[in-house]
Amino acid sequence: MALPPLGSRHLLARPLRSVPGLVPLLLPLLLALPVWAGANCPCQDPALCRPISHHPDFEVFVFHVGEKTWKSYDWSQITTIVLFGAYDSELMCYAHSKGARVVLKGDVSLKSIMDPNFRASWIAQQVQLAKAQHMDGINLDIEQELSCSSPAYNALTALVKETTDAFHREIEGSQVTFDVNWSPRYTDRCYNYTGIADACDFVFVMSYDEHNPVWSECIAAANAPYDMTLTGYDDFIKRGVNPKKLVMGLPWYGYDYTCLSLSEDHVCATATTRSPPCRGVSTHQVPYKIIMKQVNRSLSGIQWNKDQKSPYYNYKDSDGRIHQVWFDNPESISLKAAYIRSHGLLGIGMWNANCLDYSADPIAKQQTEDMWKALKPKL
Ligand SMILES: *[C@@H]1O[C@H](CO)[C@@H](O)[C@H](O)[C@H]1NC(C)=O
Ligand SMILES: *[C@@H]1O[C@H](CO)[C@@H](O)[C@H](O)[C@H]1NC(C)=O
Repeated sequence: MALPPLGSRHLLARPLRSVPGLVPLLLPLLLALPVWAGANCPCQDPALCRPISHHPDFEVFVFHVGEKTWKSYDWSQITTIVLFGAYDSELMCYAHSKGARVVLKGDVSLKSIMDPNFRASWIAQQVQLAKAQHMDGINLDIEQELSCSSPAYNALTALVKETTDAFHREIEGSQVTFDVNWSPRYTDRCYNYTGIADACDFVFVMSYDEHNPVWSECIAAANAPYDMTLTGYDDFIKRGVNPKKLVMGLPWYGYDYTCLSLSEDHVCATATTRSPPCRGVSTHQVPYKIIMKQVNRSLSGIQWNKDQKSPYYNYKDSDGRIHQVWFDNPESISLKAAYIRSHGLLGIGMWNANCLDYSADPIAKQQTEDMWKALKPKL
């Protein structure tokens, strides 16, 4: 490994050669130095390894799960990119060149965080990793069940506060965020939402996976119905969460349900309602890029459900079974995004950017562009 030029760090200016006995002792320190000194920058322009300090008025918070398709993302909008896939230094350099933050994903067992020493060492590790990779913060994605009486209830709020303090102190301008369920009410996660939102830079609300077939007479329905989604935000705000701490998270994927029967008015029964209710519902997630390929071969073409303000379609698989697919498109996303302006939320984001088709096909290109454009809330 090449050492940084002498004199670039004052510690290195000492004549090491004259005290050979010290070299073995200093070597680990020397090796660690470039990491926290911001050296070892993989970018062509070393300035691109500096963390982003600008705080945008409007957040566009993007989850990236892998692959090189990030080159085709709409970088004119992105303010933060969360790396759920492997670290990619080229992506870091590129994001920084566009003024966008690149942040870690953080997950830790709620059982372990009750020990303050464990929290401190876990946080220190995350800060070190972020520094070593020239990153700008961390997104805490702790999607674990928690009861209100659990001792982890307060420990979780403490973890968020301590993580934020450590990152802000160690990486100038850095950002710490936390992912929350679509609703503070309909969840098995009893978190101190106000405390958590206050303790970090903002929370990302996962407004998807809202439909539970068991609650709705075992029929297929939207991933993020309009009214339900917005009620979730109303509830966070009623509990005292500052709207400026809320980023609306929308799905770029849908749900494919196998129908036991399909009525004339397109009601797809997914199971029988006899007890246990809705046993054996067959459903899986499907990304927007697959949906848009499949819709032209569908039985119905794109339909619109007025109550849920969501598109869907029906198709027949190769075994002759009928399916119903519910998803979000620019139309349903724009409707929900209007709430961001009317209620003063901080921004928007999606799970996840890789769900779109970034191929050269002109139809796919247009559809992908339209999805990115739908993130801009209309005035
Ligand atoms: C939430 O956390 C804050 C900060 O720690 C605390 O002041 C508040 O009492 C907590 N609220 C609830 C409902 O536990
Ligand atoms: C699907 O059909 C529409 C309307 O006929 C057409 O404009 C579009 O190009 C088709 N999409 C694909 C991917 O073939």
